[in-house]
Amino acid sequence: KQEILQYRPSLHFTTKKNWLNDPNGLVYFKGEYHLFYQHNPNENIWGPMHWGHAVSKDLIAWEELEIALYPDEHGTIFSGSTVVDWNNTTGFFPDEPGLVAIFTHHQEASAEIVQKQTQSLAYSKDNGRTWVKYEGNPVLSHASKSDFRDPKVFYDEKTEKWIMSLATSQTISFYSSLNLIDWEFESEFGDNVGSHDGVWECPDLFKLKAEDTEEEKWILIVSIGDNGISNMGSRTQYFVGAFNGSVFTSEHDDIRWLDYGRDNYAGVSFSDIPEEDGRRIYLGWMSNWRYANVVPTDGWRNQMTIPRELRLRNIEGKYKVIQYPVEELTSYFERTVDIQNYEVEPSNPKRIEVNERYVDLFLDIKNDADQFGVTLNHTTAHTTTIEYDALNHVILLNRRNSGNVEFSDMFSTDQELKMSERNHVQLRVIIDKCSIEIFIDDGAYAITSLVYPDETCESITLYSKGGNMTVKNGYVAIPAKNAT
Ligand code: FRU
Repeated sequence: KQEILQYRPSLHFTTKKNWLNDPNGLVYFKGEYHLFYQHNPNENIWGPMHWGHAVSKDLIAWEELEIALYPDEHGTIFSGSTVVDWNNTTGFFPDEPGLVAIFTHHQEASAEIVQKQTQSLAYSKDNGRTWVKYEGNPVLSHASKSDFRDPKVFYDEKTEKWIMSLATSQTISFYSSLNLIDWEFESEFGDNVGSHDGVWECPDLFKLKAEDTEEEKWILIVSIGDNGISNMGSRTQYFVGAFNGSVFTSEHDDIRWLDYGRDNYAGVSFSDIPEEDGRRIYLGWMSNWRYANVVPTDGWRNQMTIPRELRLRNIEGKYKVIQYPVEELTSYFERTVDIQNYEVEPSNPKRIEVNERYVDLFLDIKNDADQFGVTLNHTTAHTTTIEYDALNHVILLNRRNSGNVEFSDMFSTDQELKMSERNHVQLRVIIDKCSIEIFIDDGAYAITSLVYPDETCESITLYSKGGNMTVKNGYVAIPAKNAT
């Protein structure tokens, strides 16, 4: 029993019991955010996939509901998306608009058959509480492709068609439809561009407006699977470019990573966020296929990241997708410490007592040191360090001593981010039991990382080496009195 509570976060979605992976079917409808997810309700490891279901009014507090989709004669239920069919394009909703889930039916390879994946539909007329599988399933299959999965669908106003992005081995294929039922192939993207370190999974295609210029770009997010070799495991890349209703083109050849940590995978964005809100809200699965099945939790396994707002920023001449925790998170915290113009000398580190279940730390730093850092003292014995090496302009997250690290060789390898030369660094760090999320320079870079210490955070130490660093402005925030 104690084990079950031990690493359980407060602000991150976990299932009450058993296994969880990718977020699926993220959609906003009638005042609720819906989070479906890859779920094995019978065991604490990956297995026959279902769509679990949770709802939230504020993206942070989630209520777990009944399982939405169970395996059937076409296979188990892999990743996919959900949309609101506002204009009854499907014919499923003669009375009022409802939800349509577009997902992959998966048949596992065996001695007799090769893996088979097809796309299917289910719809709900009661705000996602119950689902009917479409009788004509599957609606899209392929004669030869066995990696054919993770449909992410949106309505393209320009062509007045539904567009599906689909992961097809090491490319993304685009299909279009007028009714979500009959699909036509449009194009395939990905040969000779991006990282091909692993199988391509969980695409997401959407528009973002640049922060300053309001210029609009299309973003294609692609998760890439674990190749079993590198120290990275599974991770997520994205492309910035154009989409003409049929073909996506990338405007760059370099590889752009969404996150520099190990534990943000298979993330996608919400559909049907109201126009007056206007945000592109994303969340990822906070794990890594290299060790997701063996992380040391008992009774439940894996969690989602904090939902994040995605924005597009021009950083040193390149458009980058940046991310920041949704503002709804703020009401779960209250500030206990404010820091103004505080100078940290090598001989005099600053220690801040915390002893709370979750913490939000913000530091706006002017640096004159060779290195400075933040040590998260989870307990006296378990620490995680975030260090900035000003000589090499590298931020490094070291979780070697963060607690239980034994379960995977790769868990102890450092997480690194090379930045441009600077003497100014802004850090925001959210710590919630087994998770650390770091946002650098107002979301320009993210490092998302699991840890398994005995406690969240006894204290925080700010230190510098070879010179002083000054916290121009900062705070420590802890659970608000009225927060869950
Ligand atoms: C990504 C993924 C998807 C697939 C699902 C199966 O993590 O491999 O491609 O649909 O997980 O659970």
